[in-house]
Amino acid sequence: MDTNYWTLDRLGRLYKDWDPKVLTDLSAKVAQSKWRPGYHITTKTGLLNDPNGFSYFNGQWHLFNQAFPYGAVHGLKSWQHNVSDDLVHWRVVDKPMVPDIYSDRNGCYSGSAINVGDKLFIMYTGNTFEGSEFTRHPYQVGAWMDADNNIEKLAEPLIQDSPAGVTGHFRDPQIIKRDDYYYAFIGAQTVDNAGEILTYRSQQVDSGWELYKKLDLGTDNLGYMAECPNIGFVDGKVVVIFCPQGADKASFHYDNVHPNAYIIADELDFTDMKLVNPSPMQQLDEGFDYYATQLLNSPDGRLLSVGWIGLPDTEYLSDQDGWEGELSMVRELHIVSGRLIQSPVNELGNLIEDTEPAATDLQKRITASPFAGQYGLNLDSTDSYLHLSYDETDRQWTLERKNVGEAAVTRSFSGDPSSLEVYLDNSVFEIFINGGKVTMTGQFFHDGESIKVSANQMTIKQNKIKNM
Ligand code: FRU
Repeated sequence: MDTNYWTLDRLGRLYKDWDPKVLTDLSAKVAQSKWRPGYHITTKTGLLNDPNGFSYFNGQWHLFNQAFPYGAVHGLKSWQHNVSDDLVHWRVVDKPMVPDIYSDRNGCYSGSAINVGDKLFIMYTGNTFEGSEFTRHPYQVGAWMDADNNIEKLAEPLIQDSPAGVTGHFRDPQIIKRDDYYYAFIGAQTVDNAGEILTYRSQQVDSGWELYKKLDLGTDNLGYMAECPNIGFVDGKVVVIFCPQGADKASFHYDNVHPNAYIIADELDFTDMKLVNPSPMQQLDEGFDYYATQLLNSPDGRLLSVGWIGLPDTEYLSDQDGWEGELSMVRELHIVSGRLIQSPVNELGNLIEDTEPAATDLQKRITASPFAGQYGLNLDSTDSYLHLSYDETDRQWTLERKNVGEAAVTRSFSGDPSSLEVYLDNSVFEIFINGGKVTMTGQFFHDGESIKVSANQMTIKQNKIKNM
């Protein structure tokens, strides 16, 4: 980040105070970028992070995301609003939710949405900083969205502050309804520097919220802060997804700066707010960039997920081009043998063509199956590559990435092979191994107009993928 340009004034400047020319100039810069995706949601300019408010409302899918339009940095956050009829063709609604009230003056942070009557109710964290020490004071704010996508914030925050014993790191409410109550699951940090997930509840969605209980996950290995908690129900089980920043690696393996984790349980006991028979904590994704995943139990019975292809506290090569970050494709989740199985939603078929893509075509699906022995899939550009290989002797998968101008980095895990699907969208990749038992997601900053695809010891099939 260019700290000369990104002064506190610019990082925190209200959107109405920016010169519109900044966006025009930035758009021109972004248009020159060779890494823009064609079928993944991103921002027109600037930075994208967490998915927010994933919902089905008024006959359409709604998916918001954290955005800062004025540069590829974590400046003052707003919610970009995306809508879709089929979960794969998304368009941006020109009515973002921006910080414009006292209780969200330093950012409309992450949150969720739930259908209530003929409206959509949004609950999110209003970030504010107080005093010369910039002490965080989080508010949990409510808003109603109508059928014309107009968002009206409530005058009074739903929750005025962190509860006793919790620092200013208290955010990312996910609302669900169970029997007579609405419950909000909120990520928190205790004054002893431990991560936890707290629940609040109310019988009315837009008032009366009270601290209920801490969610008992069956583990305390939540590091120093648990961001973005989400609960979903599928296949007769419950799954909790969250980001335990600083979780102890001795009992939970991860290589990224911050992990996205999940726990599966037989059920959630709402009386004690406790997971019944919880699994160990597991990694949601084995790739380089995947975080802040949000869940939706959709009205059609599916459990859907979407994550941020990016990480906090990380700079990316596309920053130089004035933009950063994408949302993943929407995935359908199932539980098999105590593990989450993730696959792209069936609707993705609407974008996949029968035709074989040219080497210069950067949007494609590569499918390989079955395997034998030691094998690999290589995506090569001039001074950059993405190599996925499997070694039968130690049952080890390795993904090696070399971005242009950077040293190679790897991620690996062990497991048996049976099928492989790779989705490439210019600089974005999502890999589904063994029908989605393992996924590897990330960004690949290549240096060419073309990426050569080759395989060792396996046959592959390629399909072109259309723009959304
Ligand atoms: C996770 C996160 C959330 C927060 C948001 C701010 O990436 O830090 O905890 O609400 O991003 O953009």
